[in-house]
Amino acid sequence: ERVVLAYSGGLDTSVAIPFLAEQTGGEVIAVAVDVGQGGEDLDAIRKRALACGAAEAVVVDAKEEFAADFCVPALQANALYMDRYPLLSSLSRPLIVKHLVTAAERFGGTSVSHGCTGKGNDQVRFEAGLSALNPDLKVIAPARDYAWTRDKAIAFAEEKGLPIDVSSKSPYSIDQNLWGRAVETGFLEDIWNGPIEDVYDYTADPGRPREADEVVITFAAGVPVALDGRPLTPYQVIAELNRRAGAQGVGRIDMVEDRLVGIKSREVYEAPAAIALITAHMELESVTVERDLARFKRSVDQRWGELVYDGLWFSPLKDALDAFIADTQKQVSGEIRMTLHGGRAVVTGRRSDASLYSYDLATYDTGDTFDQSLAKGFVELWSLPSKIAAQRDRDLGA
Ligand code: ARG
Ligand code: SIN
Repeated sequence: ERVVLAYSGGLDTSVAIPFLAEQTGGEVIAVAVDVGQGGEDLDAIRKRALACGAAEAVVVDAKEEFAADFCVPALQANALYMDRYPLLSSLSRPLIVKHLVTAAERFGGTSVSHGCTGKGNDQVRFEAGLSALNPDLKVIAPARDYAWTRDKAIAFAEEKGLPIDVSSKSPYSIDQNLWGRAVETGFLEDIWNGPIEDVYDYTADPGRPREADEVVITFAAGVPVALDGRPLTPYQVIAELNRRAGAQGVGRIDMVEDRLVGIKSREVYEAPAAIALITAHMELESVTVERDLARFKRSVDQRWGELVYDGLWFSPLKDALDAFIADTQKQVSGEIRMTLHGGRAVVTGRRSDASLYSYDLATYDTGDTFDQSLAKGFVELWSLPSKIAAQRDRDLGA
């Protein structure tokens, strides 16, 4: 038997390699997917997997794919779970699953393993994704199914002499990628404790004085295609905005979140590019999307975010909502100028050939083409139903 393991290079998934080999009597194929998490180089991660006893180790550079096929759709949906969380971990799981399935098919894997606990969302995202893409693959989740703890993992690593530095393990559980960074556990589990500066990595302290930055973001049909007039891929746009908005402390989020399994958890996020881009994209939509379409889209956006959070990336409703959202983006083209400063991304200008804003209709100066005399009859008919109902209530003394 061959087990395909979602490998991060950290303590837990390194220990999982000899553990899975022992448990199944088979071979382990370690798969590390680069979704823009930065940090360690992928070759070092690959070598570590082999040193821990993996039969094969694959690293997949999925940065551009993650940006174009996962972050951009989330941006087009203005996706913020509970109105705040830009879904970063929820977005990477389906992509990792896709590459695990590809590796299983390539190397003859019959089961798949991940390091998630039984208390979280990520187990759901991995396994719901797997059952949609290849339901024949079995799942082994050591942290959940064999109650692996940090202490057990360290003891096992020492016993097996694994080449990993157990002392370097962070007190937090961290998941990071191109769309942002999530930090949980440790002293953050007391929800009265404020995050210390140490928790953050993608963002500078927004209170530290520095000069403001100004950026112009160009969108074409809902896709960010340039910064300050320089054409870039979505990956490059997001990476550059992480640096520039991150330097201004944009995108720090400290929240208590409803997990799918029913518990509330404390999460600290930093997502500088995601927050700046969603702010800009929403603004361009308000200029280019017709009123009723925009109103309806808000409920679609919300549902899209909940589906993705809840692990249903590969699902019929998500596919149908994607088709709707894609249709809404046809005219979302133009430029947004924003100031990045003091932890905020503030829009200061918008420009679009597809604008529905008409100066001639909106102006209070001369040149006004709006016929105000039409408004009198409109307002009278608009309020007619409630006027009749109010009269009825008065007549009946209600
Ligand atoms: N609570 C967030 C989510 O469900 C972040 C999860 C982060 N994962 C992790 N292993 N630390 O999307
Ligand atoms: C985990 O429990 O494995 C991480 C947190 C989450 O999945 O929500």
